[in-house]
This record gives sequence, C-alpha cells and structure tokens, in this order.
Amino acid sequence: MKHPLADLFDGAEQIQAEIDARPADSTDHPAQARRVIDTYHPRRLTLDVTEVIVETASTKTFRLRRPEGGDLPPFLAGQYVNVFADGTSRPFAISSGPARLDHYDLTVRRVPGGRVSNLLIDTLAVGDTLTTTGPMGTFHHNPLFHGDSVVFLAGGSGIAPAMSMVRDIIGHGLDRRFHLIYGSRVVEDVIFRDELTALAAADPRLRVDHVILEPSDGWEGPRGLLTSDTIAALAGPLDGRMVYVCGPQALYPYALRQLTGLGHPRHRIRFEANGAPADPAAQPHWPEDADPAEEVGVTVGGTSFRTPRNRPLLDALEDQGIRPEAACRSGECSLCRVRVLKGRVHSAEEARLRLSDERSGYVHSCVAYPVTDVELDL
Ligand code: FES
Repeated sequence: MKHPLADLFDGAEQIQAEIDARPADSTDHPAQARRVIDTYHPRRLTLDVTEVIVETASTKTFRLRRPEGGDLPPFLAGQYVNVFADGTSRPFAISSGPARLDHYDLTVRRVPGGRVSNLLIDTLAVGDTLTTTGPMGTFHHNPLFHGDSVVFLAGGSGIAPAMSMVRDIIGHGLDRRFHLIYGSRVVEDVIFRDELTALAAADPRLRVDHVILEPSDGWEGPRGLLTSDTIAALAGPLDGRMVYVCGPQALYPYALRQLTGLGHPRHRIRFEANGAPADPAAQPHWPEDADPAEEVGVTVGGTSFRTPRNRPLLDALEDQGIRPEAACRSGECSLCRVRVLKGRVHSAEEARLRLSDERSGYVHSCVAYPVTDVELDL
C-alpha cells in the first residue's frame, strides 16, 4: 500500500519496497523495550536494609540491596532515589559510588520537622524493606560541560552526593580533580570525616577542607561560614571551574551570593534540587493580597477539601490519601504535574515547567500553591 507521505519524499517508494521485502519479524519489540527500561529505569525497587551504619549522633547510612541479590540499576554519582514511607515520599541522594552496584547507600541526617528522614533514622533497621524509585536526577557531573576540575560546597547531609562523586573518581579511576569544601556546625557533625581524610591523603586528585562554624578549642582548620573569603582562600581562583552546591535550603541563596560576589558566573554554579521553598510567600510574584496561612478549597475528582495557601498542592493531596506520582519534590522532574481546571495557583520559582505544560494549564504540584479555590485534574 502506498504510504500517504510517499509523494513528499524522493526515494520514499524505494524505501517502502525495501521494508516490504524484509522477512517478517517475530520479535516482540514493545516487550523487549519494556524489559530494558525496567532494568535500567525501574519505576519501583524493593530493597532490603542489610546494614545500618551510625555516622554521627544525627546521621545514619542505610545499605540497601536486592532481596534476591545481584546488581542494582546503574546510576550517575549525584543522583537520588525517591523513598516511599509514611504515605509520602522523599528523595535521598545515593552516597555509595556507582562502581559498586551490589548496593546503594543512603545517608540520612535528622532534621527539625523531617517527616521521612526522622522516621527512617528512628525506625529503619536491618531486615526491613524499603520501596524506592530507580535512580533519578540531573545533579551529576557532565564531562563535556563541567570540565575536569570541580569544586563542591557541601553543608550537612549535602555531603551524600559529594561522597558518591569522590567514590566514583576512585572507583572508576577518573581523570578529574575534586575539591570538597564541607561546612559543618561542629566537628562532631562531620560525616565521613575519617574516610575523606584518608582518601584525600592518598589521592592527589582529591582535596578536602572542613569549615567548622562553632569549633571547639584545638580546631586549627578554617572556621565560620562558607564566605567568599573562605572559598577564595581555600580554592584560589575559580576561573572556569564548575561549582556544585548541596546542603540545607538556606545554603543556596547564601552560596550564590558568595560565589557571584567572587565574580563566578551563575552558569558555572549547579545546585542540587532541595525541596519546596520553605516560605513561598517570600517569592517576588506571590500575590500581595494572599494571606499564606489562610485556607482555600481544593476540588479533585469527587473530593473537596481545604488547605492553607502555603502548603504545596502535592502535600495537600497526600494529606487526603491522593498520591500523584512524584520524585524530586523540587519542581524539576515533572512527574507530579497536575492540570489546573479552575482557580489560580502560585508556581514557585523552582518549577521547571515546559512551555507546552504551562500553556495547557499544568503545574508541578510539589512546588505549586493554591492562591484561590482551585479545581484540579490528575
Ligand atoms: S516531584 Fe518532581 S517536579 Fe514535582
């Protein structure tokens, strides 16, 4: 049969004749493709906790393996898995290196109000099972654009993706220089201190500097915050180097000011996505007359409920037992998108919406806040 587009292309009839002449293919391509996708990008993984390592008084590393043994899907150092617990989910960076795929390590720190992280710290034990997504995220080294010399500013549990990158360099013998500048409140809070010290002493590609905010007597290293002066003193001229930043939310605007104050261009700074903004009403385009604490109505399917304006729609939906797919919870992956049929929503600056989504009324519910009564379509 003549293809409808055949008249538009020179040689189309000849190509069609060659296709028609091929022997029938009995391969089930969709099933084959599904198997490959499930191997490398599984939607869900069921993992056993095989070890719990106490790193500091507030931090544990959970070692996860397949119940049946064998390798886990490959990942890039810096990526996370989304952990499902307590009727919600949270992303946690993998701290182990991608050269060892028999396990993933998740290094979790207790944080004030940390619903999932504190639950894991308090209750997760060897022999328990966790459900996660496969590895995801874009916070990883790109050799083409990021070069072979990088600086990583970490704070608190922001060390987890840095540790994976360090282990990647060692495990894969990468030709890359990596300077970690790691800020902690007190020395006792420093995660992976002994391992980092040993690795940096043995490997000229690695340099590690700890910056302690409230050092005890006898601390001889740098102290205070990760100021521009401290960064410049430790790292020297940043020139074209890529700077990664990962840590508590407050670190991001602070680090950005320090780095741009040094004349470092914004496009050479990469931030790990790190949750919905704590105070969406502080963002410039939050409507002036909208009290963030006031409740508005949300209707979805046959359900209606009320929620404060400053609660992300994703959290508000989960409060009602409605669970859209989600992963990054930071506006980046677009898995949580919902369509706004009626009403007005504040999309946080963190939302990376595709133009076509925006035009069709979609928002990323993890960083979207109902300003008026809204009706949604999931
Ligand atoms: S969960 Fe990734 S954009 Fe919302």
